Amino acid sequence: MNALAHAPTVAWAGDAIEIVDQTKLPDALEILRLTNVDAVVDAICRLAVRGAPAIGGCGALGMVVGLDEARPSSAEQARAALDALAARLGGARPTAVNLSWAVRRVRDAAAGEPTPTAIRERALREAQRIVDEDREACRRIGEFGRVELPTATTILTHCNTGRLATLGWGTALGVVYAKAAAGEPVRVFACEARPLLQGARLTAWELMDAGIDVTLIVDSAAAALLHSGAVDAVVLGADRVAANGDTANKVGTFALAVAARHAGVPFYVAAPTSSFDPATPSGDQIVIEERPADEVRAWRGHYAAPTGVKVWNPAFDVTPHELITGFITEVGVIHPPFSALASVRTGAHP
Ligand code: MRU
Repeated sequence: MNALAHAPTVAWAGDAIEIVDQTKLPDALEILRLTNVDAVVDAICRLAVRGAPAIGGCGALGMVVGLDEARPSSAEQARAALDALAARLGGARPTAVNLSWAVRRVRDAAAGEPTPTAIRERALREAQRIVDEDREACRRIGEFGRVELPTATTILTHCNTGRLATLGWGTALGVVYAKAAAGEPVRVFACEARPLLQGARLTAWELMDAGIDVTLIVDSAAAALLHSGAVDAVVLGADRVAANGDTANKVGTFALAVAARHAGVPFYVAAPTSSFDPATPSGDQIVIEERPADEVRAWRGHYAAPTGVKVWNPAFDVTPHELITGFITEVGVIHPPFSALASVRTGAHP
């Protein structure tokens, strides 16, 4: 029990990044060492590390791995390396804003230092700060969510937003963990999250590992479950929240929001301020990552569909802000109208 307490999802190991290889779960809890930038980008692209805050932390530490690899001999060379690394790592996945935000933050913090050694030290300090801040943000999100939803004992969630997706105990699952830690009753319905089964493979495993009551459903059972009255609240995460509150999250989130509204069930997005993007006015401008067709046609090499069938495989969708009851962040819960979102990154709210 609590295997993840001894295996941080993303950690700095002195000269490399260590991650829990999420492609291997739930069969095996394996640690993968990332010793060069190619390996970091590859791990992010094939979802060995995933979840918006976790890829932000991994990308930030990847900046240090990249500096070590580049071995700059002047501050100028180190700054050029930081620019190139931020572009490469930040572009590994396009939708979760945490990734580009984190690598830019490391680049901007380190670029002003006078020597390659000082630049590397500052980059590492900033990356570790991002990791530490997310851990604390998760704790606060959990607590704000617990207070916001005192009578919600049955929560429906989507994808994986817990210890595996963040640098702390999670966002939406942080709310669940906070309830459990306070001795409050809580149980979770987890959507499996087709096609890569982050809900079935990761959320189910993670919650069982933590001793939380979890029931797995196929994504297409969610509307009927909501209609049945069994769910008190939907709580899930975000990859990018636009300035008007439109929210990109794992594909299927939009359908859950529509079904929740129809059933009169509150629909909350739990996310750190690093997932908010005030520079993107609305969901229309969010780039949605499209992934390989074989993720839908096949599972671990075994085809369930004709090999040549056409596929549309967006990793995320955008939920219009009108369907969102509130945002649970580390600086408080934000309810409509969402005008406060424009300043949320600055910590000005509430
Ligand atoms: O493709 P993934 O598994 O990285 O998608 C993850 C999600 O959609 C999560 O809900 C989101 O990143 C929030 S994680 C706290």
